[in-house]
Amino acid sequence: MGYLFGLVGYPAKHSKSPWIHEQFLKKQGEQGAYRIFETSPDVLKDKLQALKMVEVDGFNVTVPYKEEIIPYLDEVDSYASSVGAVNTVHVQDGKWIGYNTDGKGYVRSLVEEYPDTNLNKTRVLILGAGGAARGIYRALAEAGAPVIDIANRTASRGEALRKLRCESTESSVLSLEKAEEGLSNYDLIVQTTSVGMTPDESGQIISLRNVKHNAIVSDIVYKPFETSILKEAKNRGARVLNGHGMLIYQAALAFEQWTETFVEANDIVTKFEQQLKGDTTC
Ligand code: ATR
Repeated sequence: MGYLFGLVGYPAKHSKSPWIHEQFLKKQGEQGAYRIFETSPDVLKDKLQALKMVEVDGFNVTVPYKEEIIPYLDEVDSYASSVGAVNTVHVQDGKWIGYNTDGKGYVRSLVEEYPDTNLNKTRVLILGAGGAARGIYRALAEAGAPVIDIANRTASRGEALRKLRCESTESSVLSLEKAEEGLSNYDLIVQTTSVGMTPDESGQIISLRNVKHNAIVSDIVYKPFETSILKEAKNRGARVLNGHGMLIYQAALAFEQWTETFVEANDIVTKFEQQLKGDTTC
């Protein structure tokens, strides 16, 4: 018998996760399946109770349940607990243990793409302060980034995010205008909002006119294939990182947790990008 993995979320029908995990199973020579357990909010409790009866080895959790899942878990690891959200559950000896691989997936995609990056010397600016920013902020802080500033439309959300800093992290909350002016202070800029996402592809949260040559500009939005901010970054001679690697590596880290193996996933990122360029069937 092979592994059984799945995804709890709503809506979840169009998720890329089944395709991604099937690639990992194939690549690792493992038998198994990845199912979508689409769960509307009115039946969450019953669905989770039913899932406890199924021989599932692990499952992912997506919107809108990354926080709501926590009371149903037996344990939550310390990183997920700091972030306050769980996207991966590993079932071990019948116990549900919660992890979060979103932000760590981002960091892994960054070091895979730019292996010369020394995070201990990287000055970071995060644009946005929502759920996606939380995981990335904490993962970069734990990886040793000495400065992680936050620019957000709503300052109070930026302040809430700043509470996730590690002892050694210097962190200020800025307006988007101030961030734009002071952009040359940063080695890594991480765009975490939905601005620029299809269908509003002309949207761009800040101008990059002051970006440092050779800074890395990354956008976690993965549709369109190249967002407006990444186009500008390229034109200004900065290096870019799109959101495809983060999507694949957050999944790879979950797969590694469930199977206790190491997955080298760069080829899956390439395959995923080929699919996105060609059609949208993956
Ligand atoms: P997610 O969980 O995907 O990060 P979220 O929690 O709704 O989504 O957060 C969205 C982020 O995008 C927030 O930082 C939001 O800014 P506010 O905190 O001010 O709401 C930011 N955002 C969304 N649309 C924006 C826009 N048009 N301009 C500036 N910021 C925007």
